Amino acid sequence: METLEAVAKRASVRDYMNQPVPRDILEKLVDAGRRAPSARAVEPWEFVVITERGTLDTLAGIISTGVFLKQATACIVVFCQDTKYYLEDGSAATENILIAAADLGLGACWIAGDKKPYAAQVCELLGGTPDLKLVSLISVGWPAEDIRQNKHRPIHQVLHWGKYSPK
Ligand SMILES: Cc1cc2nc3c(=O)[nH]c(=O)nc-3n(C[C@H](O)[C@H](O)[C@H](O)COP(=O)(O)O)c2cc1C
Repeated sequence: METLEAVAKRASVRDYMNQPVPRDILEKLVDAGRRAPSARAVEPWEFVVITERGTLDTLAGIISTGVFLKQATACIVVFCQDTKYYLEDGSAATENILIAAADLGLGACWIAGDKKPYAAQVCELLGGTPDLKLVSLISVGWPAEDIRQNKHRPIHQVLHWGKYSPK
């Protein structure tokens, strides 16, 4: 698939089939994440991949906006060392993973991590040290629904040539 096709195809998927995602495919997703740009090339990220049902269910119970982790067969957790640009860096890695997932025909959804009240609990559950920031959790699985794009703001509304002008 062409990159722009994968970008256009990507949409949050929260409903998955009960079918595991092979380890080599999950590794491909992390490989896409680690290739993201990072400020000053610090690469502060650490990726924890979870496929154990019990841990996925525990996370679903902790994270109110991620209850669909109960259906997911995998989750990639993006932690970052507490650097100046950890949030931008970790977010770039997260988006790379989402695009790669779309490219591979997987369903995935970004689940909030940073600044969330459950961040410390998630960190502790997954063996993280207190210096690690939880940037995101990415639920992953084979989609059980047709992937439908959300309505995004149209290009004519968001594109400003040369100078910003309210529309
Ligand atoms: C920083 C961030 C946090 C998000 N957190 C959640 C979340 O906790 N739970 C969830 O279901 N979706 C979450 N999303 C996904 C958004 O709801 C989704 O991207 C948005 O509705 C647009 O839909 P689309 O991804 O299908 O284009 C998050 C997205 C971002 C960028």
